[in-house]
Amino acid sequence: MVKIPLYLAPLAGYTDRAFRNLCKDWGVDYLVSEMVSADGLIRDKAKTVDFICFDERERPYGVQIFGSDPATMAGAAESLLSFKPDFIDINMGCPVKKVIKRGAGSALMQNPENASAIVKAVKSVTNGIIPLSVKFRSGWDSKSINYLEFGLLMQDSGADQLCLHPRTTKQMFSGLSNWEHISILKQALSIPLIGNGDVSGPESALRMLQETACDAIMIGRGALGRPWIFSQIKDYLQSAAYKLITKRELLETALKHMAYALENKREDIVVREMRSQLCHYIKGLPGSAELRNTINHCTSAEEIRGHLLAFFAEGI
Ligand SMILES: Cc1cc2nc3c(=O)[nH]c(=O)nc-3n(C[C@H](O)[C@H](O)[C@H](O)COP(=O)(O)O)c2cc1C
Repeated sequence: MVKIPLYLAPLAGYTDRAFRNLCKDWGVDYLVSEMVSADGLIRDKAKTVDFICFDERERPYGVQIFGSDPATMAGAAESLLSFKPDFIDINMGCPVKKVIKRGAGSALMQNPENASAIVKAVKSVTNGIIPLSVKFRSGWDSKSINYLEFGLLMQDSGADQLCLHPRTTKQMFSGLSNWEHISILKQALSIPLIGNGDVSGPESALRMLQETACDAIMIGRGALGRPWIFSQIKDYLQSAAYKLITKRELLETALKHMAYALENKREDIVVREMRSQLCHYIKGLPGSAELRNTINHCTSAEEIRGHLLAFFAEGI
């Protein structure tokens, strides 16, 4: 029997309060907010509140911030403390243009000195209050793989935990994660390391654990439209077996997802956002392309609900 903490990865545009709560229902241990701009947090806190707020049942819950200026990042961390998160995570892995052109996200892997200054500045705020983690990649491109030196520098700068998604910035999401990097970094660190990248089910979770000896596993895309992945992994690690989801459970979970979303977002926003969330639930099912198209034209949650019920009516 193996027990290991499972994290839901921060996924901008997906891991909002509704989806996080749903994953909690299915046994995830740790939750993280979507990334929040430190500049935004300082300039207009009200605008970022929706990204930060969480339900008590989501604990342990962390807020992820991104930015490039140590003083601004420390100010953002200070301001976050009033929300009482259980940890703060610094994003040093985002490869998106509008983030890296500001010297934030994975651009920090090319500027270790500034990355270190950021960790020290944020740590001066969180020290003795809540843990600080850093999430990063293997390096900028295949010629500048620096995760090992970078991870050790983050540890020395004061990070309490690290998370490695072992792809380069240039790779974005192409190719496969190089889990060997997780294994090598794990052996060198004295703080815990979360392994992330391409865990798509119970079997790959066990394989990551065996190949890397990581302290926790973080799952992102594998949970989209499949929040039950967390309980399946737990069952598999404990008893070498897990239950496949029935079509009824899939339908009930998708409907619950929308119901949770309606609890804290306006219906027009929910209708728009459920378009991308729901396509993950129905992916691969016969007739899913037509259903996706139908849902894309729905203007109310009730309409979406009706189409989902009709779609799943047969064969449940
Ligand atoms: C749509 C999308 C949004 C993401 N948003 C974030 C984010 O806000 N912060 C972050 O650190 N990583 C973000 N990531 C990266 C994931 O957290 C994760 O590191 C990556 O998807 C690899 O894990 P996976 O194979 O389990 O998905 C995002 C990835 C995707 C696909």
